[in-house]
Amino acid sequence: MDFKGRTALVTGASSGIGAAFTRELAARGCQVVLVARREQRLTELAAEIENRYARPAHVVVADLSLPTAPAAVHAATEKLGLHIDILVNNAGFATYGPFDTIDPDREHAMVMVNAAAVVDLTHHYLPGMLTEGGGAVINVSSVAAFQAVPFQAVYAASKAFVEAFSESLWAEYRARGIRIVACCPSATDTEYFQVLGNDDEARMGPKRPPEGVVRDTLRALERNRPHVVIGYPWKLVALVPRVVPRATMARFGERIMRPNRHPGSQRRQDVPPSR
Ligand SMILES: NC(=O)c1ccc[n+]([C@@H]2O[C@H](COP(=O)([O-])OP(=O)(O)OC[C@H]3O[C@@H](n4cnc5c(N)ncnc54)[C@H](OP(=O)(O)O)[C@@H]3O)[C@@H](O)[C@H]2O)c1
Repeated sequence: MDFKGRTALVTGASSGIGAAFTRELAARGCQVVLVARREQRLTELAAEIENRYARPAHVVVADLSLPTAPAAVHAATEKLGLHIDILVNNAGFATYGPFDTIDPDREHAMVMVNAAAVVDLTHHYLPGMLTEGGGAVINVSSVAAFQAVPFQAVYAASKAFVEAFSESLWAEYRARGIRIVACCPSATDTEYFQVLGNDDEARMGPKRPPEGVVRDTLRALERNRPHVVIGYPWKLVALVPRVVPRATMARFGERIMRPNRHPGSQRRQDVPPSR
């Protein structure tokens, strides 16, 4: 894939994996559009990119939990006269805890950002890519996409949605010059766990740097793969649900994700012991 001279729009560019995608795509020659809620973070990163590469970097402030936000983002890029060649649907967040204890409004916002905005932005930008005869959509999913994740039920469901959506579109558009890839990171060193409010029980394994997620995803995009699981042993772990019964996976997940399971861990929820 030739990134030089392309325009890439990255959601969730104000931190973590999105900021790393923005920097890497700019380094490879793209003009970038940065989307998120925190305007100051976006303008600082845009200024850093403009200074380093002498290429415009555009900021569009949007709260993607609002149903009107994707259309507003699209209107903003139209007004700037930009054609988007590469769409990176990265913005997202997670919740953790027993389903009945989590704020329903926050879960609803998570579905809007993690799933609905991904569909809406793809609807807005894919037709333009088809007209131009090429383009790419990178959807940031998660290793949570492949099986039930008790205590992260809505988050895992939102990422399973992104995974199925991406693979279906990959098959639909691969012959028409559009590349679609779902990237599935495991624990990554970003603000994700801080936003989630638990950097202990909600995390499986050590955190990887976001730059590695970006590098492996762009390599998968260049090879026109429909999805990429980031790092070992997760590439193997992601295969386990294909052979283990779903109920077994879900029961096992309930044990390993249970709040208060570690002595001395952050006690956030009181959950009756599992049977
Ligand atoms: N870190 C991990 O361990 C991990 C693992 C697997 C998958 N992921 C996925 O990776 C993606 C990026 O997360 P991250 O790890 O880089 O976490 P992060 O550092 O917290 O970044 C999340 C980004 O999403 C944006 N965002 C959140 N809510 C938004 C909203 N309502 N409207 C617009 N933008 C919003 C945030 O920007 P503002 O707050 O400025 O709006 C921020 O830029 C997410 O989809 C996440 O689910 C992360």
